[in-house]
Amino acid sequence: MRFLYGVILGIVLVFVAAYCYFRFGLAPVAVKAPPMPFEKTYANMALHAAIQKGAPRNAPFQPVEADFQTGARLYREHCAVCHALPDGVRTAVSGGEFPKPPLLLKGKGVTDDPPGETYWKIQNGIRMTGMPGFSDALSDRQMWDIAFLCAQADKLPASAQTILNQPYKPDTGM
Ligand code: HEC
Repeated sequence: MRFLYGVILGIVLVFVAAYCYFRFGLAPVAVKAPPMPFEKTYANMALHAAIQKGAPRNAPFQPVEADFQTGARLYREHCAVCHALPDGVRTAVSGGEFPKPPLLLKGKGVTDDPPGETYWKIQNGIRMTGMPGFSDALSDRQMWDIAFLCAQADKLPASAQTILNQPYKPDTGM
């Protein structure tokens, strides 16, 4: 019986401690605050599991050059503000985010992820990170075009590279 009370008390204390952590402002809220204990581990675990379950394994079409060009234009419009262009220069928006949006067109980016995984992230976003979901804003085809662009960022046709290498000017419709 005593043992049982001990177990119940233990469980209650865990909940009280967790409540106090959030209630009394100990949990990080500001972007510059250090991450919560295990924040990254659990967030990554949840994301990974959701993608395993939900991301399409096969693309509905194979991209041709025009798809990369469309992807490049859409990327400039919707993604570059956070994920930057091939030069890797961050906007103020990008620099102020936590977690920092990875540079998708510089270095490895997500070229080692299957396009279906990137498609899932574009479609659904990643909660509490600043990564928006685009399913209401873009068509399926458009999201695939951007996913292919990101997946092949290290071997894009010259025509798509030319589009991406124009200077970033958000106020002029890019
Ligand atoms: C407002 C800022 C913002 C915009 C706009 C944005 N993202 Fe993100 N994105 C983020 C952040 C922040 C992360 C990091 C999330 C994390 O650490 O889990 C992220 C993560 C990602 C990832 C996962 C990267 C990895 O290493 O696994 C992909 C892929 C991605 N974004 C693609 C895109 C694409 C494509 C677009 C445009 C259609 C876009 N994002 C628009 C902020 C943004």
